[in-house]
Amino acid sequence: MASVRIREAKEGDCGNILRLIRVKAAGRKPVSQRGSVKKVGAQHLGPDGGWGGSEGWAPQAVAPGCAHTQALFLSLSVTTPMSAALRADGFGENPFYHCLVAEILPVPGEPHGPCVVGYGLYYFIYSTWTGRNVYLEDIYVKPEYRGQGIGSKIIKKVAEVALDKGCSQFRLAVLDWNKRAMDLYKALGAQDLTEAEGWHSFRFEREAMRELAGK
Ligand SMILES: CC(C)(COP(=O)(O)OP(=O)(O)OC[C@H]1O[C@@H](n2cnc3c(N)ncnc32)[C@H](O)[C@@H]1OP(=O)(O)O)[C@@H](O)C(=O)NCCC(=O)NCCS
Repeated sequence: MASVRIREAKEGDCGNILRLIRVKAAGRKPVSQRGSVKKVGAQHLGPDGGWGGSEGWAPQAVAPGCAHTQALFLSLSVTTPMSAALRADGFGENPFYHCLVAEILPVPGEPHGPCVVGYGLYYFIYSTWTGRNVYLEDIYVKPEYRGQGIGSKIIKKVAEVALDKGCSQFRLAVLDWNKRAMDLYKALGAQDLTEAEGWHSFRFEREAMRELAGK
C-alpha cells in the first residue's frame, strides 16, 4: 500500500479540502426526504455559504446528470463554505477551526506530488466540568481509500493534538444512520453519550438566533 501522511493543513490545501467537502455534501440527500423529518438544512443556512450543510443530509448515491444532482450542486454553494470563508476562517489571525489532511505520498519515480484524499476538521471547545476539549467537526476519506486505516490515523492524530494541548476530552457527533462510523469510533475507544448518558444535541438556527438577538 502507498504510504499515507497525516499533517496539519496549510492555506494552500483549502482548494482540495473544499472539493472533498463538496463531494461529501453531494453524496447526500436532504433529511426532508427521509420520511417524518420535516426540516431541510439548506433553507436554514446563510446566503454567505456558511457552515452547516452536513448535518441535515443523509447518505444516498446520486446518479450523475439527474435533475436532483444538478439542484444539489447548485445548492452546494450555500450548503458548504466558500473558498474565501474557508481560508479566512482557518488561516486568518484568529482561526475558527484547524484541519488535518491525509495525503498519499508518491512512490519514488512517480511524476506527481502527494494527493490529498481525506481531512479531519476540528476546533477547541471548553467545558465547565472538564476544561479544555477538542471537537472533531467532520472527518472524510475518499471512498476509494476507505478501509485502509486512513480515518483511524486522522482520529489518532486529533487525539495526539488534543493531548499536546492539554485537553481532557475529544468529542464528536454522528448521525444515527451512520452505523459504520459509530462502530469505528467505538472500536477506537469512544463512548456513545446518547446511549450512556442520554444527551440530546441542540442548535439554534440563524432565524432563531435573530429572534433571540432581536436582529
Ligand atoms: C468514517 C470514515 C472517515 C472512515 O475512514 P476510513 O479510512 O475508511 O477508516 P479506517 O480505514 O480507519 O477504518 C475502517 C473502518 O471504518 C468503518 N467504516 C465507516 N464508514 C465506512 C465506509 N463508508 N466505508 C468503509 N468503511 C467504513 C468500517 O467498518 C471499517 O471497519 P473495518 O476495518 O473493521 O471493516 C470514512 O468511511 C468516511 O469518510 N465516511 C464518509 C463520511 C463520514 O461518514 N464521516 C463521519 C461522520 S461525519
